[in-house]
Amino acid sequence: MSVLLRIEDLYVQFGTDEGTVHAVNGLNLELKAGGTVAIVGESGSGKSTAMTALMRLLPRTARVSGHIWFDGQDLLSLSSRQVRRLRGHHISMVFQNPMAYLNPTKTIGQQLMEPLLYHHLATPRQAQQQALDFLERVGIASARARFSSYPFEFSGGMLQRVMIAMGLIAGPKLLIADEPTTALDVTVQAEILALLKELQAEHGMGMVLVTHDMAVAAQMADEVYVMYGGMVVEHLPSHELMKGEAHPYLRGLLRSIPRIDGRREKLPFIAGNPVNTVGTLPHGCLFASRCPHRRNQCSERPPLVKLGDRHEVMCWLPYVDMEEDDDGQFGIQSVGAAGTHL
Ligand SMILES: Nc1ncnc2c1ncn2[C@@H]1O[C@H](COP(=O)(O)OP(=O)(O)O)[C@@H](O)[C@H]1O
Ligand SMILES: [Mg+2]
Repeated sequence: MSVLLRIEDLYVQFGTDEGTVHAVNGLNLELKAGGTVAIVGESGSGKSTAMTALMRLLPRTARVSGHIWFDGQDLLSLSSRQVRRLRGHHISMVFQNPMAYLNPTKTIGQQLMEPLLYHHLATPRQAQQQALDFLERVGIASARARFSSYPFEFSGGMLQRVMIAMGLIAGPKLLIADEPTTALDVTVQAEILALLKELQAEHGMGMVLVTHDMAVAAQMADEVYVMYGGMVVEHLPSHELMKGEAHPYLRGLLRSIPRIDGRREKLPFIAGNPVNTVGTLPHGCLFASRCPHRRNQCSERPPLVKLGDRHEVMCWLPYVDMEEDDDGQFGIQSVGAAGTHL
């Protein structure tokens, strides 16, 4: 299958009064046409910043470098005018908090028709019909009556459905969904995810799903990118996600999954704080200060190690023989069958 999206060496920095924020630090990601990749990671790991860079919606304080190839063109080198032609038409985004992105003074119907009218994809009459169809399609009852409602008259789950309808109405090739269900309760979340999957299959679009929910990633995506400190520390096929023999950070995230038997219990979490990305980044592994497997080597940045087809991990651990030296050291010569240096 052809590649729809390729992010290459993406860096994003923000200049702030406290210093430079290194939000994204060399992100590489690939999405096949019609496929789904998930980006997972704790809050602050640079997921939204990377996606906002892709949408070319970052504030002017952002310094961006790298390439974001979409359909043969580099989104980062397009003019604002060229970007506006793509956004909302061939690429669209569903945000975590629809209320922040919907206009409170316009009806749902007006806002739903906007992508079609802006991109001259329909006459006003056709746009209205399509908007009504889409409202029904995303499960909004009495669509005709709801068409003239304002955002404040909708519940959170309903607004998220509207956002999805807005994202899909122009038939994009690529949908970015940034934690689209985080604000919703579990039942509504499941419905929205099922709807996204269904519409995706119907329209054959590619999707990047940002989530901090590992179960959602495993269920929705073909491949998963695990971000930490603005870097991908592991990239793997989603069916390998739950094996749990991966980057210590990913193991930590997997241990944080709520129990599926529904019993509430205190979630384990990864001890320590996420890496500080303000000022200068640590030279070594960004996860080292929290890592239970930390060794001296970890004061150097680990290489990206290929563990299998479409499976890479940025960690020194694959180099560790089970029998470590007495001093807790290990050397490159102990590369096991699992690890080959990229
Ligand atoms: N406009 C901004 N100005 C300064 N720092 C920002 C801005 N947007 C995001 N950041 C910082 O970039 C880092 C990554 O944030 P974000 O991409 O929102 O993470 P995530 O989506 O993974 O939670 C955080 O440290 C955040 O504070
Ligand atoms: Mg975010």
